[in-house]
Amino acid sequence: MNGIPYDNLLEIRGYIGYLLNTGYSEIVLPALQDSEEPNSSALLASIREEIGDCRRCPLSEGRTNLVFGEGSPLARLMFVGEGPGASEDREGRPFVGRAGQLLTRMIKAMGLERSEVYIANVVKCRPPSNRDPEQSEIEKCFPFLREQIKAISPEVIVGLGRVAVSSLLGRKVSMGRTRGNFEYFDGIPLMPTYHPAFLLRKEHERKWKAEAWEDLKKVMAILDLHADGHGDST
Ligand code: URA
Repeated sequence: MNGIPYDNLLEIRGYIGYLLNTGYSEIVLPALQDSEEPNSSALLASIREEIGDCRRCPLSEGRTNLVFGEGSPLARLMFVGEGPGASEDREGRPFVGRAGQLLTRMIKAMGLERSEVYIANVVKCRPPSNRDPEQSEIEKCFPFLREQIKAISPEVIVGLGRVAVSSLLGRKVSMGRTRGNFEYFDGIPLMPTYHPAFLLRKEHERKWKAEAWEDLKKVMAILDLHADGHGDST
């Protein structure tokens, strides 16, 4: 009975009394379930099942492993990248190469563990030679990302780089103009920021990492997170 206000209980008791007085001898209730809704991990499992051994676009021809995404189904924060690179294709996990190691450090700097967030990509198979995914490939794969986001229902999404942010917003963006200001994806605040691979390419210029850290701090403010003490560890 936890959580039902006292007034409502009185009302329910009154209504049952009324039914009994009007001739009902039995009230059959539906079986109680933990929740009517399938939970996030069941939903994610069914999305993975629906993707199956996907052959919906040509990217499937060159893949070793499909990279579905990983992390907590209950994540408050979700990161969306562009698509698997060579290491991700080999391991079947998102962001495990050099860019992934940087992303992991960024997550830690935000005061979180990687296992507490959810990480996915716009396309789930590696584009050859790490080229940008084609619009037609994005369109085939995107519905699954949208379903993943719906299943997890994060409080905030961080879009990593131009391809991810453009795909989420449904319009071509330039990161220089878009980063650092919240947008929305299906009603969920979306923070566009630089892709960790870009930050690695600009390793020797402080400006980009400092800007990315400013973006992440805005996300931390919404989630009431506190830096891990090392501040910008990117
Ligand atoms: N870059 C991405 O956009 N996603 C990955 O999973 C790895 C690198």
